[in-house]
Formats: sequence, structure tokens, C-alpha cells
Amino acid sequence: MGERRIRRVGPEAAAEVHAAMRAGFVDSARYAHPSSALRESVEDVRAALGRGGGVLLEIDGALRGSGRFAFVGEEAEVLAARLREAGDEGAPAPRVEADVAISRLAVEPEARGQGHGAAMVEWIEALARRLGARALLADARSQQPDNRGWWRARGFEVIGYAPRYGIPDIRTHMRKTL
Ligand SMILES: CC(C)(COP(=O)(O)OP(=O)(O)OC[C@H]1O[C@@H](n2cnc3c(N)ncnc32)[C@H](O)[C@@H]1OP(=O)(O)O)[C@@H](O)C(=O)NCCC(=O)NCCS
Repeated sequence: MGERRIRRVGPEAAAEVHAAMRAGFVDSARYAHPSSALRESVEDVRAALGRGGGVLLEIDGALRGSGRFAFVGEEAEVLAARLREAGDEGAPAPRVEADVAISRLAVEPEARGQGHGAAMVEWIEALARRLGARALLADARSQQPDNRGWWRARGFEVIGYAPRYGIPDIRTHMRKTL
């Protein structure tokens, strides 16, 4: 495996995050219900990055994956302010009533199965702990393929379901307490 680098980015990196996301979700285009990631524009990605942030995965300097995070809950703004002030540094802050929601996590097909996806989740988890979040949240697909086992292996548990395309649990809400 090459040298892995994960770095946090904001709206300025929208084009890179968009490109990495499209490469990561490319196989979803074959499914009956392709991921909505493939319908997002660079502008959509820029706006989403402004509501939280993103991570870019580079292997030997080449872009291979990405993910996004957003702050949710009553005290979401506290987490956002702490991120602005402390960046990636600092001791863990006191816990507040807010969570970090991970979305659009993806590794391009050729680079999968080498722990890169798990490493991005761990990177976001470490950030969430430092900022004082209660939990990590993620929405997993129940099919095309069923990703819930992957999130479960990362310590997430099912907390609810949302229907789409007439499939009651196609989006499964998952949570990991920090
Ligand atoms: C999910 C994803 C990010 C994982 O990335 P990755 O770099 O391959 O993940 P890791 O290498 O850290 O983990 C791979 C392990 O998970 C397992 N795994 C992969 N997909 C799985 C699934 N759907 N259910 C259960 N386990 C799964 C692999 O067998 C592998 O296990 P091993 O290490 O024992 O061989 C990647 O498959 C991906 O980009 N998928 C397309 C986009 C997507 O669906 N994103 C999730 C949004 S909910």
C-alpha cells in the first residue's frame, strides 16, 4: 500500500471533493437507483462543505477518496465555532449537545479493501472527539450494496430507517456514541 494522507478541507476544495466523490460512487450508476451523489454539482458540494467540512484521501499524492461531515443538534454551532478556532489541533473540548454527521464517504473502486474508508472514519471520529461531539451519525444504504455491516464493524448501530423509491429501509440511520 502506498502512503496514505487524509486532510481536512473546506469550500475552497469543492472541485476536488466533487471529483473524488464521483469517482467513489461511480459503480452506483449501474444500479436501479443510483446514489444522489452522482447528481450533485460542484456548487452543491461547495455549499455542503460550508456547513461543516470534508476530508480528502490521497495515496502517494493521488486523490482516491473523500467524505463530508456536518454538525447537527441543538449546539451544532458550538462545534462549528470550535473548529474555526482550534482547527485540527488542541485538547478535547467539553461535550455539548451536538453530533457529527458523516456523508458521501467513498473510496474509488481500485483503492478499496485497504482500510482507507475506515481510516477516513477514524480521522473524522478523532476530530469529533476533540470538538466535544456526543456521537457520529451516518446514513447507510440497505442495498446496492448493503453497507450497514461496514458501518457496524466501525462501531455504529442502527437507530432508524427512511424510505425511498418505495423501499422502507433503503436509508438506514446509524449512530456511534463517542
Ligand atoms: C464503503 C467504502 C467507503 C469502504 O471503503 P474501503 O476503503 O474499501 O473500506 P475499508 O478498506 O476500510 O474496509 C473494507 C472492509 O470492509 C468490508 N466491506 C466492504 N463493503 C462491505 C459491506 N457492504 N458490508 C460489510 N462489509 C463490507 C470488506 O470486506 C473489507 O473487510 P476486510 O478488511 O476484512 O477485507 C467503499 O466501499 C465505497 O466507497 N463504496 C461506495 C460508496 C459508498 O457506498 N459509500 C458509503 C456511503 S453509506
